[in-house]
Amino acid sequence: MNTFKLGGQFTFPGTSSPVQRIGYGAMQLAGPGVFGPPKDHDAALAVLREAVAAGVNHIDTSDFYGPHVTNQLIREALHPYIDDLVIVTKLGARRGKDGSWNKAFSREELTQAVHDNLRNLGLDVLEIVNLRAMFDVHGPAEGSIEAPLTILAGLQQQGLIRHIGLSNVTPKQIEEGQRIAPIVCVQNLYNISHRNDDGLIDSLAAQDIAYVPFFPLGGFTPLQSSILSDVADRLRATPLQVAQAWLLHRSPNILLIPGTSSVAHLRENLAAGDLTLSTQTLAELDGIAAAAGAVKH
Ligand SMILES: NC(=O)c1ccc[n+]([C@@H]2O[C@H](COP(=O)([O-])OP(=O)(O)OC[C@H]3O[C@@H](n4cnc5c(N)ncnc54)[C@H](OP(=O)(O)O)[C@@H]3O)[C@@H](O)[C@H]2O)c1
Repeated sequence: MNTFKLGGQFTFPGTSSPVQRIGYGAMQLAGPGVFGPPKDHDAALAVLREAVAAGVNHIDTSDFYGPHVTNQLIREALHPYIDDLVIVTKLGARRGKDGSWNKAFSREELTQAVHDNLRNLGLDVLEIVNLRAMFDVHGPAEGSIEAPLTILAGLQQQGLIRHIGLSNVTPKQIEEGQRIAPIVCVQNLYNISHRNDDGLIDSLAAQDIAYVPFFPLGGFTPLQSSILSDVADRLRATPLQVAQAWLLHRSPNILLIPGTSSVAHLRENLAAGDLTLSTQTLAELDGIAAAAGAVKH
């Protein structure tokens, strides 16, 4: 079964067991709008089981997906967990009864969220927790993360969290965070056509910190580009496989967490790690972001 290369391996700083660079993002397993149960419960379990059977050992989730739904599915599908499985969760939001996304950065809310994640995942300690500093719906926005991160660092000292990461953050917030606790990963929006974080990725790579792009395939509206399609035709691959292979080539600290609710799409995504892109093809693919005016070095 384990025939995919999965993009090689990466070791989060301060940890000893590496993860495959192709992981899995569980958000798509919840119902429409990331709210409520999946459209097909058994299919959701099958996606998770097939991912891990194929060698995936890095799963991204949150207890606010559903809420509780994706964590409970992960537990149902995969518990007791294989030893090297790294489940990364995130805190900083809570869902309203209408599915709305609300900020949740108080001590009470963050502590409750850690315990919700532990219970729903069936764990005694959370391996990596990202503080999702979504201060603005349009993307990372400046503002101090000291108060919530200090609370998280306290929960880490209590032994409930092993490692801390940050999500939806600016370089300035990462520097502020690193003065409070070691940061092992950063999760921001980035893909072949949305490259605001090019400079940040390079600076995190120099520190061996993982960069885990969310919306690697474009998110709720998957990427479409004639350049991507042309390259994909030549390589006998799909455009979204090429988009994922491009991310793997972009920097060795990039880890993929593509989200899918379909076993067929999962298999395609896992196979993206087998694609090799030449220097010429990479330059051609840079044209996607250049056309959108999105390359920043
Ligand atoms: N930190 C944050 O604020 C944040 C925000 C968003 C997401 N995330 C994390 O990032 C992960 C990835 O993001 P995402 O799932 O939102 O977006 P994504 O991975 O960019 O794209 C998911 C979309 O692509 C489709 N898809 C997946 N594989 C495909 C394939 N091979 N062919 C065609 N369509 C395919 C999925 O539909 P199907 O289900 O039909 O395959 C879904 O509509 C999430 O699962 C979540 O864990 C974090």
